[in-house]
Amino acid sequence: MIPVNEPVIGEREIEYVMDCLRTGWISSAGTYIERFEREWAAYCGRRFGVAMCNGSVALQAAVAALKLKPGDEVIMPTFTIISCAFAIVYNGGVPVLVDSDPRTWCMDVDQIEDKITPQTRAIMPVHIYGHPVDMDPVMKLAQEHDLAVIEDAAEAHGAEYLTGRDTSHPTWKRCGSFGDMSCFSFYANKLITTGEGGMVLTDNPDIAERLRSLRNLSFQPQRRFYHEDLGFNFRLTNIQAAIGLAQLERIDQIIAHKRWMGQEYTKRLQDIKCLQLPVEKAWAKNVYWMYGIVLSREAGLDAFHLAEILFKKGIETRPFFLGMHRQPVFNYDMRPKESRFPISEVLGLQGLYLPSGLTLNMDHLGKICDIVHEVLI
Ligand SMILES: Cc1ncc(COP(=O)(O)O)c(C=O)c1O
Repeated sequence: MIPVNEPVIGEREIEYVMDCLRTGWISSAGTYIERFEREWAAYCGRRFGVAMCNGSVALQAAVAALKLKPGDEVIMPTFTIISCAFAIVYNGGVPVLVDSDPRTWCMDVDQIEDKITPQTRAIMPVHIYGHPVDMDPVMKLAQEHDLAVIEDAAEAHGAEYLTGRDTSHPTWKRCGSFGDMSCFSFYANKLITTGEGGMVLTDNPDIAERLRSLRNLSFQPQRRFYHEDLGFNFRLTNIQAAIGLAQLERIDQIIAHKRWMGQEYTKRLQDIKCLQLPVEKAWAKNVYWMYGIVLSREAGLDAFHLAEILFKKGIETRPFFLGMHRQPVFNYDMRPKESRFPISEVLGLQGLYLPSGLTLNMDHLGKICDIVHEVLI
C-alpha cells in the first residue's frame, strides 16, 4: 500500500529528543521550545511565536485573543477543516461562510465584502492544500472595515504569496506573515511536524503576551495562582519542539520534494480530461501539502468510488473536506443563514488527494499515475 502520507524522522530529531530525555527537560519549559518559537517566527517573517499543543487549539487561542462578544461574526471559508469553525464557536462567535475559488479551492475573496455586517470582527483566510489565498484583497477589506485577520497557514508551511502586484514593488512573502495572527499545525502529515503541535505567530507584543497567558491557564507572572481570565493548558512539550526544530533545519529540502511531487503529478496527469488538477497562480508558490484532484461530471464516478478502486489497487487516498455548511453539528448555528456553496459542494463530492508524503518516490508516483490513467481513460 502506498500511504497517503508518512513522516520522515531523521537522526537530528533523535539527537535533539535524546538531549531532552538526558537533561530531563521533557515538559513545556526548555530551550528547544524557545528556539523553535523564535526560529519558526523568523522563518515566516514574524516577531513572536507562541507554541501550542496542536493546530486546532492554536486557532482557538488566536480567536480567544480577539475577545469576541457573543454573536460577533468571523468570515471564513466553508471548505476547510472543522477546527476553524470550532475555534470561532467555542469563543461565542458565529462563523460566516464563503464559498471556494474554483481554481485554487481557497476562499473566494470576491465574496467576502458582501458578508461584512456591523457584527463582523475578523476574517480567517485558510491556505488550502499548500496554495495561498489571494491575501491582498483580504488585507484591504480588513483595513477598510477595521477587522482582524487570523491566517490559517497549517497546510502552507513555506508557501509564498506575491503581495502588492499592482504596485511598483511587488514582494514575495511567506504564508503566515499576514494579518494580526497566523496559526500553524505541526501534525505528522504537515510539512514540518512535531507529532502533535501548533503555533500562533504575531508581530504584536501584547497579543503574544495574551497568547502565552491563555496557553498556560492564565497564570500571572507577578502573582502565579491569581487568575483574571479563563485559560487553557495548550502547552507544547520541549520534546515536541526538539523534533520541530530538527525538521525546520531541513525545510528547504522538504519544500523541494513537495514541489517536485506536485509538478511531476501534474505533468503525468494533465492529459486526463475529466480531472481538475491543482494550480499555481502567478502570484503564488504552492508547496503542494497534499496533491488534490477533482473529478468532473464526465468521469462518471465520484471521489468515494475512485478512492475505493484505488485502495483495492494499493493506493491510499483521502477525501476532500466536506463544507462547514454541510456539518450536522452546525445545523442550528449556521445552516439557516447560508444559502448555497456550489464550488465547495463539488469539491466535497468529487475531490480527493493522492499520496503526497515525503517518502513518495518516482516509482510510487509513476505507479499511481499509471493506475489513475487505467481507471479514468
Ligand atoms: C487548515 C488546517 N487548520 C487547522 C488544522 C488543525 O490542526 P491539528 O490537527 O494540529 O489540530 C488542520 C489540520 O489538518 C488544517 O488542515
